[in-house]
Amino acid sequence: MGIETVELIDILDNKLSREDRYNISLNLRKWLVLNPDKIIGLDISAGMLEVGKKKITERKLDSKIQMVLGDSENIPYPDNYFDCVTVAFGLRNMTHKNRALKEMHRVTRRGGRLIVLEFSKVWKPLERIYELYSFKLIPRIGKLIAKDEGSYRYLAESIRMHPGQKELAKMCRDAGFENTAIRFGTAARGQ
Ligand SMILES: C[S@@+](CC[C@H](N)C(=O)[O-])C[C@H]1O[C@@H](n2cnc3c(N)ncnc32)[C@H](O)[C@@H]1O
Repeated sequence: MGIETVELIDILDNKLSREDRYNISLNLRKWLVLNPDKIIGLDISAGMLEVGKKKITERKLDSKIQMVLGDSENIPYPDNYFDCVTVAFGLRNMTHKNRALKEMHRVTRRGGRLIVLEFSKVWKPLERIYELYSFKLIPRIGKLIAKDEGSYRYLAESIRMHPGQKELAKMCRDAGFENTAIRFGTAARGQ
């Protein structure tokens, strides 16, 4: 059974077999994964763009991903241009976040999505332990491994200055985005 042929009422009434429910969840998953024809990566730093370009070439993705030098506070693309705009660990570094969010809204087509991946505030009872971790431990690890204490101290400081979850959701709404949702999670990254 294809998902198109399923009535919502059947799902709600629990009339479907286990196999049908499994197929539906697989289809929904496919629909939720973006598979864009074209990706444009924008960064204000020429050096960072070069790092990105190298990785793109290594992965043979040059025909799909284009890297562009530009400022998120003044995005060099027309209104409603993108289906989805996403920023990972970058909003925190932007000087005028409200202006950047407004620009992201302007270039996202109606019905499109903004996905922001960012550090945020921790649960209140864990605040003290997190402060110790981010201001004492992380810079020391940075000094030891990357020989760069300052950048890791800046990282902790910039996270502290970044708006909390509710404030950020409000900033997104003020920029024009609807249906804002916050998800908590952990992020791990490879090279
Ligand atoms: C912490 S890095 C994250 C880079 C990448 N998204 C990642 O996860 O590896 C933040 C990036 O945001 C860029 N950035 C800061 N302000 C910007 C702005 N106004 N417009 C475009 N990029 C900006 C910086 O140059 C830097 O490359």
